[in-house]
Amino acid sequence: MTRKTLSIEINGQVRAAEVDPRLTLADLLRHEFDLTGTHLGCEHGVCGACTVLLDGRSVRSCLMFAVQADGKKVTTVEGLGGDANGLSVLQRAFREHHALQCGFCTPGMLATLTELLIDNPDPTEGEVREVITGNLCRCTGYAGIVSAALDAARRIRAGEI
Ligand code: FES
Ligand code: FES
Repeated sequence: MTRKTLSIEINGQVRAAEVDPRLTLADLLRHEFDLTGTHLGCEHGVCGACTVLLDGRSVRSCLMFAVQADGKKVTTVEGLGGDANGLSVLQRAFREHHALQCGFCTPGMLATLTELLIDNPDPTEGEVREVITGNLCRCTGYAGIVSAALDAARRIRAGEI
């Protein structure tokens, strides 16, 4: 199979690779670039654990070929951080509201909710719950995740970075 050369900006850094056309974006991130914060659960688009941002929009990295991201910007959980501890407001809110237990769903949840808070900085609880219907969590019961998202939205609107 002819290998393809691609160049992707990942978490602000341009990365190049030569890959098989059938390689998924998730496998590129995890195996070529060691960005193992992107998790793989179902590997067929159901669980949301592999969600990353592609040009600012959430995508299932298990359902995309790496070559489809050529020339685009990808943000993984490793690139979401903002403060001196490397955590965004949303990540800090997750920690404070006990929005994670095993953490397997967390990178995907954070990507999905980061997109929501950019699109809609003042979401209702219903809007938060609706947007995470595509991200499965087996541990938390979702209550902490919803509180964290609503609290992060309040704090971002108040100017916290
Ligand atoms: Fe991609 Fe489950 S691993 S949606
Ligand atoms: Fe364990 Fe969500 S914290 S799956």
